Amino acid sequence: MKRIIFILSVFLVVLLIVWMVGRFNRSSGGGVERNGYQASTRNTEIVIYDIDDLEAQVAQIIPKGGFDYISGGAETENVLRRNILAFDAVDIYPRVLTGVDTPDVRTSILGTNIALPVIVAPAAAHGLAHISAESGTARGAAAAGTIMCVSNYASSTLAEIAAAGDGAPQWFQLYLSKDDAFNRQIVKRAEDLGYSAIILTVDAPIGGKRVRDVRNNFKFPLAMPNVAKKSGKTKGQGIGAIFAAGQNVLSPYDIMRVKSMTRLPVIVKGIQHPDDADLAINAGADAIWVSNHGGRQLDGAPASFEVLADVAARVNKRVPIIFDSGIRRGQHIFKAIASGADVVAIGRPVIYGLALGGWRGVVSVFDYLKQDLQRVMWLAGAQTIGEIKNTTLRRRCIPVQCDEL
Ligand code: FNR
Ligand code: LAC
Repeated sequence: MKRIIFILSVFLVVLLIVWMVGRFNRSSGGGVERNGYQASTRNTEIVIYDIDDLEAQVAQIIPKGGFDYISGGAETENVLRRNILAFDAVDIYPRVLTGVDTPDVRTSILGTNIALPVIVAPAAAHGLAHISAESGTARGAAAAGTIMCVSNYASSTLAEIAAAGDGAPQWFQLYLSKDDAFNRQIVKRAEDLGYSAIILTVDAPIGGKRVRDVRNNFKFPLAMPNVAKKSGKTKGQGIGAIFAAGQNVLSPYDIMRVKSMTRLPVIVKGIQHPDDADLAINAGADAIWVSNHGGRQLDGAPASFEVLADVAARVNKRVPIIFDSGIRRGQHIFKAIASGADVVAIGRPVIYGLALGGWRGVVSVFDYLKQDLQRVMWLAGAQTIGEIKNTTLRRRCIPVQCDEL
């Protein structure tokens, strides 16, 4: 009898220890199961000399699989690189006798006031970068006075992210599931939690060919709790399989369907062709998001900035335009707005800020871009975001062409 009691007590103590370790892992991970993956735990402001420096710093502090997933692009990664280089094809034509004094970078989008025309792009799995995951990003975005867009493949729950934002504006990004009841459920949950717009991403019916992920045989080490009920196996799967499990055929009808699910504005993300902008607006889109997904989907296609002016001309101010892919500096923000964007979004720079400093690092990235934009506006002669919109850029004049003129 004594022996049985002894064995039972040992069993109970072991059970208790296992439970406590599990609890510790969950709480210290800010809701993110670590599962042997060491994301950053930093919590500090970061000193930024140039946003371009951050990527190499992040490579030093998070595992290679996670880093390559975040930083990588499709196939040759030409589009990834071109997204940044494309801004160099046009120049800001400076005006200097304008009396500009301390430019005002505040603006608004879909009725929401923001401290600068830069918002957080929706991106999956922030838990790969930092243990606080999207909860950390949301706190940083709120402190920076801007909008947090949340991917339905986030590592934190929609409720955790809403709580971390503490009332700051947040938009929910949806990838359609094949299960329409689930689509309705998740949109309703976002609406109930106070998210104030739905972003429907339409440039990923399937995943792009991400060679780095394939070489690394990268599988998500963390759960995607918001879609777990639907696809419980997101943890341990690669991004290709996750995309394949979603809805793989998209048409304007899907925009109408999402419109019918919600009273919130619906933003259509991933538009590159003016004809698609037309289709989306005719199907009820409340805003167009020009993006090539940060060069992660179709390689051998134009840089996102290269198509912006054409899309903006077709949209012709019927709805606002959000732009992303390649924004790394104030001059990029200026050029995108001068080419028809109302606001821009940043993907990787936010995740890098999160990895390097937690929510404080996110604030540092926005502070940096705010000051950078303000300096560019001052030197270019634009007092307000409205004045940037009225600015005409110059196509770059390379010496050989100038000589020929
Ligand atoms: C993304 N992006 C993205 N977009 C989206 O609509 N839903 C998503 O879940 C994701 N996931 C995602 C993960 C990671 C790691 C990255 C880097 C990007 C695309 C994102 O919203 C945005 O379009 C690009 O990141 C913009 O390019 P930059 O700023 O990273 O150059
Ligand atoms: C990506 C997703 C999830 O680009 O959109 O990896």
